[in-house]
Amino acid sequence: MAVSEAISTKWLTQGPLVSKFEDALCRYLANNNRENHLRGAAVSSGSAALFLAFKALEIGNGDEVLVPTYACSSLLNAVHLVGATPIILDISDTDFNPTVDMVSKKITDNTRALVLTHTFGVPTDTMAFKELGIRVIEDCAQSIGAKYRGENVGRLGDIATFSFFATKMITTGHGGMVVSDDTTLVERVRDYCNYDGGKEYYPRFNFQMTDFQAALGLSQLDRLSGFIAKRLSCTGRYESALGEKNSFMRQTAVGPGLANGYRFALKLGSNLANAEKLMLDKGITCIRPIIPEELLHRCLDLSPSDFPCAESVAANTLSFPIFPSLSEDQIIRIVDGLTELKDSIDSK
Ligand SMILES: Cc1ncc(COP(=O)(O)O)c(C=O)c1O
Repeated sequence: MAVSEAISTKWLTQGPLVSKFEDALCRYLANNNRENHLRGAAVSSGSAALFLAFKALEIGNGDEVLVPTYACSSLLNAVHLVGATPIILDISDTDFNPTVDMVSKKITDNTRALVLTHTFGVPTDTMAFKELGIRVIEDCAQSIGAKYRGENVGRLGDIATFSFFATKMITTGHGGMVVSDDTTLVERVRDYCNYDGGKEYYPRFNFQMTDFQAALGLSQLDRLSGFIAKRLSCTGRYESALGEKNSFMRQTAVGPGLANGYRFALKLGSNLANAEKLMLDKGITCIRPIIPEELLHRCLDLSPSDFPCAESVAANTLSFPIFPSLSEDQIIRIVDGLTELKDSIDSK
């Protein structure tokens, strides 16, 4: 409805709805505080947002950017496309994010920035990483709505990026956003996104979002708290089915973090293949979200033995269906499957 109304205005490119979406996302991140200093620049994808965040921070040749290995290859691509060198980090097998210790060991004189992904919507303590004295980019592609110490992720780093791809918490089809309270950084992103109309020539590009995408983004943002509530209600029911004894299998936040329910991921180890089959027999497809071959250190031919936790998480983790449009019947089927899984593990 919002999209067809936007199209009926005949404004097909970037226009007033994009600005409205940028402001609305910033207000959301600032817990509805209209006095916030956050600014947003809507872009064409989460990948573009990462690339543009690096550009805005003037990261390039000779600079090192720290990225977790258990992440989408989009991170690696963005680092390479600005000509910087990716330095790959292992992760903790509790929250699937790097630890401060892992990061501090890799900092050199050439380190310019760290990317944190708040993996699968499980937030990490951005401020603890900022204390290391490096720039922090929060890649919130999966984690919008997750909180750490009551603050939304995407507020505490130097700059944050978002993806609105179809499988994310909210969608505009393809799309993304760069957000920061540093106006200079956001203006650099805006400038780079539009190759037309500059007073002096230097290479820029077209990474813009359209108004009808922004119309969808605005209506999705209105529904975000409902989406999160549904995901967290499913999380609670899945956890109850597993029982406390099996809670060690869950990916969980470390410290005062509140996940957004983007995934329900279990580290199943030797039970993984059985679990996959048990669920499939009930008509429930689970996925292995990142398999070992996709780990970023493997893309760079680095030794798997230097990334033991990520290797183990990638080989042993299964993600169970969790999304806002799950019907009650589907949820009950998943809960039954998890109960059976728990019984089969407990009886061993
Ligand atoms: C953590 C992370 N960053 C970046 C991206 C890239 O986003 P997009 O697909 O919108 O380019 C993704 C997409 O899956 C992602 O999960």
